[in-house]
Amino acid sequence: MNFPSLFSPLKIGPYQLTHRVAMAPLTRMRAERPSLAPRPLNAEYYGQRATPGGLIIAEASPVMATGHGNAGVPGIYSDAQVKGWRAVVDAVHAKGGLIFLQLWHVGRVSHSSFQPGGVLPVAPSAVPISADLKTMTADGKPAAYETPRALETAEIAGVVDSFRHAAINAQQAGFDGVEIHGANGYLIEQFLQSKTNRRTDQYGGSIENRARLLMEIAQAAIEVWGANRVGVRLSPYGIANDSGEADPMPLYTHVIKSLDPLGLAYLHFIEPRSSGAGRAEVNHQNVPSAMVLFRSVWSGVLISAGGFTGETAEAAIAAGHADAIAFGRIFISNPDLPRRLREGYPLTPYNRATFYGGEEKGYTDYPAYGELEQA
Ligand SMILES: Cc1cc2nc3c(=O)[nH]c(=O)nc-3n(C[C@H](O)[C@H](O)[C@H](O)COP(=O)(O)O)c2cc1C
Repeated sequence: MNFPSLFSPLKIGPYQLTHRVAMAPLTRMRAERPSLAPRPLNAEYYGQRATPGGLIIAEASPVMATGHGNAGVPGIYSDAQVKGWRAVVDAVHAKGGLIFLQLWHVGRVSHSSFQPGGVLPVAPSAVPISADLKTMTADGKPAAYETPRALETAEIAGVVDSFRHAAINAQQAGFDGVEIHGANGYLIEQFLQSKTNRRTDQYGGSIENRARLLMEIAQAAIEVWGANRVGVRLSPYGIANDSGEADPMPLYTHVIKSLDPLGLAYLHFIEPRSSGAGRAEVNHQNVPSAMVLFRSVWSGVLISAGGFTGETAEAAIAAGHADAIAFGRIFISNPDLPRRLREGYPLTPYNRATFYGGEEKGYTDYPAYGELEQA
């Protein structure tokens, strides 16, 4: 029997991947302003990272105006944004790559300066993020998080509808599928976890009720795309953005078991050891492995991300813990990451200072391996 390796093919939904090195969704805050549409620089960046039969999951993109919490993040709710994304998708397709879009609503991880009319951000309940964490206003000033406004029950259908419209927009932009961002302490995870969900309606209380929003959003995306072009990202045992369920096992077992029969393209984890990698360099010790814990309750394709090297990715796939590995930070600084891992070439280190915002520096100016000597 041939064991799968990082460079063996993999079927994801209707697509045939030629390797299992995926690009993780990475917020880079470089969209055009004020339209928040992707611009040619963004198409160049994604095109650089595309490989024939390789999967890219494009950065989290708010499905509606209230879903923003960071400056320069591209949306997927206006015609200009769809047009901008179309150029990104074309650049990836031109190289034979596949690209899914991550659909996002930040919920309470926002600030009133991002909200239409300057109102408070929305969340399942009026529970603020810990005062230990700080944010930035829309014009870049450090600020404390505010206490969000709890969504009315009647408003929730509108949120689900925004995810549906965003899924339609992603289709119009030519994407190959969508990934629902159910991770990292954002709106969907705020509903999932009892720490942030104190609701007493059908979206709060029991685990079934807390999972309802995710299930409704998944259903809406499936109606647009068909289940085999929809992925879901989760971060069980994560602590990003002041998240964290006291007892994650029953919650995530229920969520994963509920998603399993839908026939999704994939389930995508952020490994707890890397929770919060977007904010700081972390390597949490003595934490569980999401892929190891939950593999047995998921029968479909499993992608895992978080602190992988070529060697540990290869080992995870050979052991059957995951089917593909998504790479974040090292895909930023190695546009030709699949080739470097395959050939064992050295990796270029990333520069955290240029992760968020700016222009080509730290974005499109990382060379491919063969270009290094000439650079
Ligand atoms: C700059 C940066 C931006 C990120 N943006 C997103 C995002 O938009 N959506 C998401 O689900 N995760 C996001 N993450 C998390 C990554 O997708 C990934 O799970 C994490 O970096 C761990 O993988 P790594 O160790 O390979 O970097 C981000 C991480 C970084 C460093």
